[in-house]
Amino acid sequence: MHNSSAPPIEIQASRKHRLGMPAARFLRDYWQKRPLLIRSAFPDLVSPVSPEDLAGLACEQSALSRIVTHQPRGDRWTLRHGPFAEADFTSMGPRDWTLLVQDVDKWDADVRALLDAFDFIPRWRIDDVMISYAAPGGSVGAHVDQYDVFLLQGLGARRWQVDASPNPPTAFRDDVELKLLREFHPTHSWTLEPGDMLYLPPGVPHHGVAADACLTYSIGMRAPSQAELLTDFADHLAQGIGEEARYVDPGLALPMDPFEIDAAALTRVRHALAALQADDASLAAWFGGFISGYRSVGIAAPPRPPTEAAVRKALAAGGSLARHPFVRTAWARQGERALLFVGGAAFEMSPTSARALAAATTLDAGQFEALVEPAQAIVIALARSGSYIVRKPVRHPRKARQ
Ligand code: SIN
Ligand code: CO
Repeated sequence: MHNSSAPPIEIQASRKHRLGMPAARFLRDYWQKRPLLIRSAFPDLVSPVSPEDLAGLACEQSALSRIVTHQPRGDRWTLRHGPFAEADFTSMGPRDWTLLVQDVDKWDADVRALLDAFDFIPRWRIDDVMISYAAPGGSVGAHVDQYDVFLLQGLGARRWQVDASPNPPTAFRDDVELKLLREFHPTHSWTLEPGDMLYLPPGVPHHGVAADACLTYSIGMRAPSQAELLTDFADHLAQGIGEEARYVDPGLALPMDPFEIDAAALTRVRHALAALQADDASLAAWFGGFISGYRSVGIAAPPRPPTEAAVRKALAAGGSLARHPFVRTAWARQGERALLFVGGAAFEMSPTSARALAAATTLDAGQFEALVEPAQAIVIALARSGSYIVRKPVRHPRKARQ
């Protein structure tokens, strides 16, 4: 194939197409296949998070944060894990360091809202929005990721180099804690300004260096390994199989050799493993639980779970139910019915309710009332277990009389 027929690696977004093309074409030509630089993908982007906000978040006990510092002289790298203290930031030098905070979408509703622009990918494939702040020269080094990522420039400028060649070297350096590439031969180099976005499929070597102090948003995907899928599915199946179900050989013929495992034996082994060939409904029922609970943090029930009456009263008074930001949802059809998956658990309901509940991050009285039973009861149970948080109505202070 001639290179000239390959889709371009760089494109200008338009008002109509954030990706510079219809999403279906992006999926066909780029997704999991080749990198794409999209100029002005978010043309009016105003970073919802400031460097100070990010530093503040990195001081939170439960936020996942790291600081990577590079000493160009001697090419030495250091990695420190958070939580950090304010003093850690005031003592940082003016150059060559990066603060990275994961899961910022779970902490900030405006960052979470950015994900709506990625609705061309199933939400359960999206892991998180990680945000990095880099001082000038700051970088995490040349590396490869195992997951697709959209690198959206939020503030300042960053120079990205990528190696878009077919079989790049991927050996790691063994002298640093970070997984840095031993060799990196960039084929492309771009400076990204706010609103520009670089899409990288898994395995493409890349290296981003802050041109000036900058914020980069990484919208990262998640993909369970085949080993994880197999182990979890097999465990799930095994739980439903009794001890009495065993390898059987009622048609055993005289063996050619008593020590040989022959073809007939393998056929019987395959038969004993037949449960792995699940139908769509059982596969969906397992996978929904697996993927909505995959790498998720456990949500603790509130010390005083709200009663059904309290939930209904709060909604009637103008309050709402906010889904816990760390709770993942998905849904799947089961014939005429559906399963809603919430943080690893499955609930049967109508497809309309499952679809609405999977998407809605908050529920007001109207949305709650529109749910068909048993969905209302399920939401109340989920509020009692901490997956929804009851928000009292916001009271606007009365205007002072003139
Ligand atoms: C960064 O934001 O500095 C690193 C993001 C990445 O390379 O995946
Ligand atoms: Co990366």
